Amino acid sequence: MEREILRLGWSVGRETRVVAARDFRGFCRDCSGRRVFLVADARVMSLHSQAIFRGVGDRLLGAFVMESSERLKTPRTLHAIWSEMHRVGLARNDVVLAVGGGIVLDVGAFAASTWARGTRLVLAPTTLLAQVDACLGGKTAINVAGARNQAGTFYPAELAWICAEILTTLPEREYRCGCGEILKAAILSGEPELREIAGGLPLPGRERTEWSRRAAAACLSFKARIVEADPEEHAGRILLNLGHTLGHALESATGFGLNHGEAVALGILASAAMARRLGAPADFCEEVLSCLCGLGLPVRLPRRVTGIGRFLRRDKKALPEGTRWILPFGWGDCRPTLLPRDLEGELLAGALEELA
Ligand SMILES: NC(=O)c1ccc[n+]([C@@H]2O[C@H](COP(=O)([O-])OP(=O)(O)OC[C@H]3O[C@@H](n4cnc5c(N)ncnc54)[C@H](O)[C@@H]3O)[C@@H](O)[C@H]2O)c1
Repeated sequence: MEREILRLGWSVGRETRVVAARDFRGFCRDCSGRRVFLVADARVMSLHSQAIFRGVGDRLLGAFVMESSERLKTPRTLHAIWSEMHRVGLARNDVVLAVGGGIVLDVGAFAASTWARGTRLVLAPTTLLAQVDACLGGKTAINVAGARNQAGTFYPAELAWICAEILTTLPEREYRCGCGEILKAAILSGEPELREIAGGLPLPGRERTEWSRRAAAACLSFKARIVEADPEEHAGRILLNLGHTLGHALESATGFGLNHGEAVALGILASAAMARRLGAPADFCEEVLSCLCGLGLPVRLPRRVTGIGRFLRRDKKALPEGTRWILPFGWGDCRPTLLPRDLEGELLAGALEELA
């Protein structure tokens, strides 16, 4: 019924367990004797509240239910969660349980990491993107003044509970968004299993549920190796930003008209085109394009996007002398590359031209 797929040790003496299960029955088992504060996605609650409440049982202390929108991933929402935590008397030894996609997980985990200087944290990701990526690694975040993930903490959850069955209610567009992160893991690792998974998304049904289960296990195992070696992104973890430098700027520049996974997909393709201009084999760029098409992800910008440069300057990897891009030169061969402003401008203009 449920299976531990990995256990990750953090240098701060904490541990994250990742469990794959077919429902939510056991996801609060480790919370016995503790009270649970639920931070949950409104849509997920409208579809799955019975199963979730059954899993939480009589441990429920309070709840904050929110719409998942980048426009609500803000200090204001964080403040509203803290206020509710205060109202119900959440204590340090209680558990914050975040149930939803990457937005709810990021905000809920931020609230958990700061409330009482850190409460216990359990994550139950309900989108493909959150199951293959956001639920592991300890990054929490909110947007500030429209710019992505400007404030955040490093705060690993003690448990991530992956239930592939919950993805059956996920809208198709959201499903496909998770595929961008799967392709990212496949390119970074070059592993044959991940490459095969990234080769195409099965149609909805049992085959897709099994595919999601495999994708989560393979992506999270890969991510665990990276973040275990570099939890706070001083070295190797920076590679996980593949596609995100431009992706975040595109999300902001389109006023979140592109969602995260779509923007990352375009970011990966643009980075591959930039790498090709610096000598990467043209075949590799074609293979990336074909995977994106197979996964049903966009390979063209929705319209002419302006103001990208302004948002790139706000990127956390921007330095006075330029921005550090992660450029893919082949499967399993991604290189952090500091691009001075003029070269960045030239490579990016060329890549965006190809995506127009
Ligand atoms: N912390 C990390 O390591 C990390 C990594 C990657 C992405 N992120 C963050 O994740 C966010 C994107 O997350 P996302 O793509 O999961 O989107 P999301 O959280 O916005 O969810 C997408 C939509 O799906 C709905 N939904 C969620 N689960 C559902 C279900 N089972 N059935 C029906 N509808 C469901 C939500 O209501 C929402 O409308 C971004 O803000 C990004 O910054 C964080």
